[in-house]
Amino acid sequence: MAYQPPKQVILLPQTQQLKACTTIIRDKNTQRADFIFYSDRIIRILVEEGLNHLPVVEKTVVTPTGREFQGIDFQGRICGVSIMRAGESMEQGLREVCRSVRIGKILIQRDEETALPKLYYAKFPPDIASRYCLLLDPMLATGGSAIKAIETLLDYGVAEERILFLNLISCPEGIAAVVAKFPLMKIVTAEIDAGLDEKLYINPGLGDFGCRYFGTD
Ligand code: URA
Repeated sequence: MAYQPPKQVILLPQTQQLKACTTIIRDKNTQRADFIFYSDRIIRILVEEGLNHLPVVEKTVVTPTGREFQGIDFQGRICGVSIMRAGESMEQGLREVCRSVRIGKILIQRDEETALPKLYYAKFPPDIASRYCLLLDPMLATGGSAIKAIETLLDYGVAEERILFLNLISCPEGIAAVVAKFPLMKIVTAEIDAGLDEKLYINPGLGDFGCRYFGTD
């Protein structure tokens, strides 16, 4: 039976446009300029969808015709938090939609001795606890760094239900690990792959997102 993600997962509508974009970034022959362009398109959709899950209040405005329009207004302030380095690729997409958005950063790397994810650096807006946080990382593989990042946000006073985790490609293992620890948090993802390979890369995945986006080895 096909994989059914838990209710905390919001899978982007699987449109042909989205599929065409993910096909391009998954192709190993895609050149960097196209990788960046089509990743950015997907990131923009992810950000827009993520924002749909934040609260709004009713708002009435008067249009130039003199009539009232019953609309809505965003409620609450947000901030982005990128998991370095790959998550930094998603910052611009967030800025394009949310002008002057504050963006914090977290650096997590595997500890050489314990092989566990270790927090090396965190810098957040001082009032992060009162904001909704869009956590940015393009690939949800084992979930190890995401879990460490979310634990860090909770340590800084952010409520779990105020975190939205945005990623381009996820897999059942990473989703299960994150949801088991943080059942109140939502994950917005563009596609869910089959699983992890023996090197803990997502399969079929797209390789190393950070290296392909930033042009490094
Ligand atoms: N990070 C990546 O960039 N790719 C994967 O497949 C897994 C983690």
